[in-house]
Amino acid sequence: MKVHHTIESLQSNLQQHKHQGQTIAFVPTMGNLHQGHLDLVKKGQTLADKVVVSIYVNPLQFGANEDLATYPRTLDDDLAKLEALGASDIFVPTDSIMYPEGKEIHTKVSVPKLGDRHCGASRPQFFGGITTVVAKLFNIVQADVSIFGEKDFQQLAIIRKMVDDLCIPTKVVGNPIVREADGLAMSSRNSYLSPEERAIAPVLYQTLARMKEKILADGMDSTLEQKAIADLNSNGFTVDYLTLCNSKTLEPASKHDKALVILAAAMLGKTRLIDNLELSLSPTHQ
Ligand code: PAJ
Repeated sequence: MKVHHTIESLQSNLQQHKHQGQTIAFVPTMGNLHQGHLDLVKKGQTLADKVVVSIYVNPLQFGANEDLATYPRTLDDDLAKLEALGASDIFVPTDSIMYPEGKEIHTKVSVPKLGDRHCGASRPQFFGGITTVVAKLFNIVQADVSIFGEKDFQQLAIIRKMVDDLCIPTKVVGNPIVREADGLAMSSRNSYLSPEERAIAPVLYQTLARMKEKILADGMDSTLEQKAIADLNSNGFTVDYLTLCNSKTLEPASKHDKALVILAAAMLGKTRLIDNLELSLSPTHQ
């Protein structure tokens, strides 16, 4: 496994792989790797000969009052996990490599509409920061396939749209959410939770799961979202949004939609948790 701190070093190594006819999978991350990230690497290994992982806490996707400074950085530990898994090239750039003239005057990439709702509504800088860094990383790595977690369902939809719109030559593959035994979706931000909050946190998933069951049993009901939000708020969360959406457009579900996703974000103390659950209704559902 090679660790690269410059674009040149990464690209010259990737050229060698490509000259040998080897295919490349790419997994972008912000580090502090957990099983959710490692599953993306494993998925990459089933799809390509070499897996490239980037570790970069991208300042462009953090708002002024967000957790850029405190975001967990555990590089040595991350590299040990990737080495054990057999990842081939790790790209660990600095801000001056990614935004050499400063992030304010760097070219921006944004996906309108899809990026404006849900997480985009409460974090206006968020998706523009993600699409900008991911577009740049895609151009640096030029992978055959790039793997993203379904944990960040809206992020995945936005990346797919960006890749389609800009004809970026990589195939985007989604990978299922990895959860703790009690249902909490794994996240680097879970380490912010106090023991009391950690005990409550699985209620987010449980609430989505209950709502899914009810929809599958009785069909869509316009009161379900409000009930789920009230349940979460009464358990100590402050819900940002919880909505039943069309899983392709991420627009609020209409009664004819069959492929659905419940998307949710909620604060628990100072920690922002997101989760989602997909469901498909059969043609007989009302
Ligand atoms: P990060 O939060 O580190 O996540 C990196 C990748 O891991 C994303 O594709 C995310 O969806 C996936 N992931 C995280 N937790 C997961 C879980 N519990 N199950 C499955 N997949 C999971 O997402 C980002 O970084 C950044 O926005 C990035 C795309 C790297 C751009 O900076």
